[in-house]
Amino acid sequence: MTTRRNFLAGGSAFGIALAGGARSCATADSYSISILGDTHFDAAPTSLYHGKWVPRHQNDWRDRQNEFKRNQDMWATRLPRLIAAAAKTRRPDTAYLFQMGDLIQGDCTDFETHLRFFKDAQAACSKGFGDLPFLTVCGNHDIRGGGDKAFDAYILPIAAKAIGKPVTSANFLFFHGPDAFIFVDFMRPDAAKIDAMLTASEGARHTFFVLHSPIGPYDGWGAYWFLFGKPADAEKRRALFARLLKRRAIVLCGHIHRTQIRRWVRPEGELVEFSANSVWRPQEDTPKVLFDSPARFGEYVKAHPARMDEDHDGCLQKRTVPELLALVEEYRPGLVEYRQTQSAGHYLLHVSEKEVTIDFYSCDSLVPHETFILQKK
Ligand SMILES: [Fe+2]
Repeated sequence: MTTRRNFLAGGSAFGIALAGGARSCATADSYSISILGDTHFDAAPTSLYHGKWVPRHQNDWRDRQNEFKRNQDMWATRLPRLIAAAAKTRRPDTAYLFQMGDLIQGDCTDFETHLRFFKDAQAACSKGFGDLPFLTVCGNHDIRGGGDKAFDAYILPIAAKAIGKPVTSANFLFFHGPDAFIFVDFMRPDAAKIDAMLTASEGARHTFFVLHSPIGPYDGWGAYWFLFGKPADAEKRRALFARLLKRRAIVLCGHIHRTQIRRWVRPEGELVEFSANSVWRPQEDTPKVLFDSPARFGEYVKAHPARMDEDHDGCLQKRTVPELLALVEEYRPGLVEYRQTQSAGHYLLHVSEKEVTIDFYSCDSLVPHETFILQKK
């Protein structure tokens, strides 16, 4: 199956850019969604958002300096250009702006700073999009350093406004026309509620499962830092995977700072997962394919065993390399498509009766680099 369309600069039907501020004329049956991956909003000086931050341990402050610097540099230079380009490529049929979590860097400790951080980040990421409804998911950075309450206080009302009904937690369901959107809080997942939302949306034309992390292990640092990735949650992740597969769900996520597509086809069904990334580091100026075949799934884990037992915000538990490789093997059956690219940019999801596709625009480009076919009828 051909699942990608590649473009030469300036040469595609998808490459028509619109001026920012275009009014939405989406219909329920056919519409698009602008998407930003992780953005890690931050700004200098460090004291602006991290002045009251209390490090968890002695090395915390030292370890965070590189991230603060990366983000501050990125937002002083490249990210405003990326956001401006994303705003220009929205269409008259664009119904929402999605951001895939890690909206902010986090590490504030006090509530008021965290709240201001979210407000400033949302304004920066929405610049040029006018009043397009904004929806985000909870990422690990969003609540790092005590941000749980601030996330709920600032983000949930915005979500409620975007979907036109009350939102009481970051696990929520809404419909856009015939399609179901299930938003999941990766940091505070609620298996019973996820189950209930899947049941309540049975029969939807397309089911979009939207969260910060992938739904299985991935080739990268912290490979098993994904939804229900702890050993104790093994049954939850297996049951969820089986249900999403049967449902032919489309998973939209971020977290890994790569543009990635994975597709599983098994007798029970089909499941596709797409990871978006907007963390634009200099090495992402030009997209670079890292893995491009299912046979290569797990190569990073094999090559970097020492990096697999690091603690990530207290979310993981140490595992042996054989345990990790067994986890990877669990997700190999039926993996028919796997492509991971070191790249950053912005995205435009197109939804219609006959297909769901996503255009990837590299960095601040106004022309798609390639289009991924997520689902075709
Ligand atoms: Fe991130």
